[in-house]
Amino acid sequence: LRVHIVKIGGSVISDKTRPFSIDYSTLEKVACALNRCIKKRCADALVIVHGGGGFGHYVVDEFGSVNSVEAFLRTVEVMRELNAKVVEVLRLKGVKALGIDTHAVAEFRGSSLRIDVDKVRTVIEMGLVPVLYGDAVVDIEEKSFKIASGDDICWELAYLLKAERLVFVTRVPGVFVGGRVAKVFSLSRDLRTLEDIGVGGHDVTGGMRAKLLKGVGKIKSIGAVYIVGFDPRIVEQALCLEPEVGTRVVE
Ligand code: IPE
Repeated sequence: LRVHIVKIGGSVISDKTRPFSIDYSTLEKVACALNRCIKKRCADALVIVHGGGGFGHYVVDEFGSVNSVEAFLRTVEVMRELNAKVVEVLRLKGVKALGIDTHAVAEFRGSSLRIDVDKVRTVIEMGLVPVLYGDAVVDIEEKSFKIASGDDICWELAYLLKAERLVFVTRVPGVFVGGRVAKVFSLSRDLRTLEDIGVGGHDVTGGMRAKLLKGVGKIKSIGAVYIVGFDPRIVEQALCLEPEVGTRVVE
């Protein structure tokens, strides 16, 4: 099964500076682009993961951490709400989207994140498009609560499913090096020189640098990794061929 994974950044579909607001116009455009990719059969299977944006990040910021029962439950609650909205829009645009609660299929054991990948694999084999998200999850060793970001989930799933493609759709058009979007970015060579330009607002899981760092050691098992902006045409290109603008991330 040729699996393509796409992460839709939380700040693409919501406003990180404004709590609980969804950018429906952008979400709809991205959903249409993803539906076109499915129709064109660019991939046998698609997995979608979205971030927390003005939902999860805002709540975790407000509580200061996720490490209390109240903070954990509130985070899970708002992220589920965002996921339901994302799934609804995807369904309206024709995607056979199935929301999967990350906290139900993932757990930490200390620093390592475990995901019930068999469940995800079965669902995609049945022709559905699972939609997971960055979430608060339980650490079953430490008996604590932690955040598994959408990026953590993506890299891990892409690694476990040996994804053919992993595409990060972000607020920025790619990885900036020397003031412009780099065509290619090597994790082993270029990470030291990275300028981090955040999108502002609430972010409790780190910016571009953190996103890239998480790929170290996993990228070898993944076909191609791209970081692109949210222009629907570019998103489609990144999933199906090669994006005109954007960064290819290599080992
Ligand atoms: C964050 O996920 C999830 C929570 C804060 C609960 P991400 O870190 O992937 O979210 P974005 O894409 O940066 O918004």
